[in-house]
Amino acid sequence: FISFTYNHDQLFAESASLIEIAKEFGTPCYVYSRAALVAAYQEFNRAFAGRDHLICYAVKANSNLAILNILACLGSGFDIVSGGELQRVLKAGGDPQKIVFSGVGKNQDEMRMALTAGILCFNVESEMELLSLNQLAKEMDKIAPVSLRVNPDVDAKTHPYISTGLKENKFGIPMAEAERIYHTAAHELPHVRITGLDCHIGSQLTEIDPFIEASNKMLALLDRLEKQGICIEHLDLGGGLGISYSQESPPSIKDYVTALCNSVGQRKQRILIEPGRSLVGNTGLLLTRVEYLKHAPHRNFAIVDAAMNDLMRPALYDAYHEILPVVKKSSEVNNTYQVVGPVCETGDFLGHDRQLSLTKDDLLAVMSAGAYGMSMSSNYNTRPRAAEIMVDGHAIHLIRARETVEQLIASEKILD
Ligand code: LLP
Repeated sequence: FISFTYNHDQLFAESASLIEIAKEFGTPCYVYSRAALVAAYQEFNRAFAGRDHLICYAVKANSNLAILNILACLGSGFDIVSGGELQRVLKAGGDPQKIVFSGVGKNQDEMRMALTAGILCFNVESEMELLSLNQLAKEMDKIAPVSLRVNPDVDAKTHPYISTGLKENKFGIPMAEAERIYHTAAHELPHVRITGLDCHIGSQLTEIDPFIEASNKMLALLDRLEKQGICIEHLDLGGGLGISYSQESPPSIKDYVTALCNSVGQRKQRILIEPGRSLVGNTGLLLTRVEYLKHAPHRNFAIVDAAMNDLMRPALYDAYHEILPVVKKSSEVNNTYQVVGPVCETGDFLGHDRQLSLTKDDLLAVMSAGAYGMSMSSNYNTRPRAAEIMVDGHAIHLIRARETVEQLIASEKILD
């Protein structure tokens, strides 16, 4: 965690004290490091060294406007999956010409909004979606730039819930139908224009091989299409590069990008990628406070003020997040704790069997929470969503105020 380090046994975010942040903004809150975010983006960018490319940050990983704005200022593109994400990117200063629109169920309003904004391309996931987009573009007197998302049928070797590139998954167009649908798009649908070819095989991949296997299948298709006179301007190889939550050792950003570039070889197409987790995952943590300790006969519980509604990954995927004490206590004895939240579900845990030395009111940092943390949070148990803070050196910026219960219930109505 390059930007989160101990100084005299106290955990800091860059040069900002997490104790001070908790005092000023309360807990639970997400804390992000601007430097870590910039460093991750630059690492991707540098790895492409001279090759025509576009990094399209997968907005779903963390859609806070401040994060989108920092990336937009660095020149990043964006991968969106809804009209809401489109509005966020535009509001944050993103360039529409650097936006790709993914997802299996884009509705008419969302497509209309994206056509009006003038995005780079629609990653189309089915023949029916293609026909519908062509029809809408016709009504709007526009031509929609499209890329077909093809399902390469590759095993991403990741958690089944976040694996997307197998033929039994709902994503993409089957490889066997891709050529026919490209021909339909090229010859029968005057209101779409083919610009690219796209795939995305899954998330939190810790090996390079599945990426290369998918890339090679895409490239074979690309070559066949070009022979048939269908011109492909860009190849979008999706996102999915994993991060280290504990013991995993995913390829480095540089090795991953280099391997992709090598697989594309001398071909002239621009390369797009859609990284989410690998850009933001290790740039954020969830700061939480111990409310109570409960020592049951066979288990010790640390009940903290963050819960599954704040960070859903442990409950949903049995995901592991490192949990660090904000103040290290060297001399005291450790206990084995179940770190749990206040929500009324047995699945409401942040970590199982953690060795910690705890007393009431201690602060804990749930690490690697920058991706799919806040963006998957909910209001379950009528818990207002956490505050978000961005640290930049010594400076501490509140980038999303803690939600209030008033905001939560504002749009509800009792029967007359
Ligand atoms: N492109 C597409 C079309 C995607 O569906 C995704 C993620 C990405 C890019 C970005 O993938 P990444 O680089 O972040 O792996 N909630 C889960 C992860 C779901 C990923 C969904 N799609 C989690 O917390 O692990």
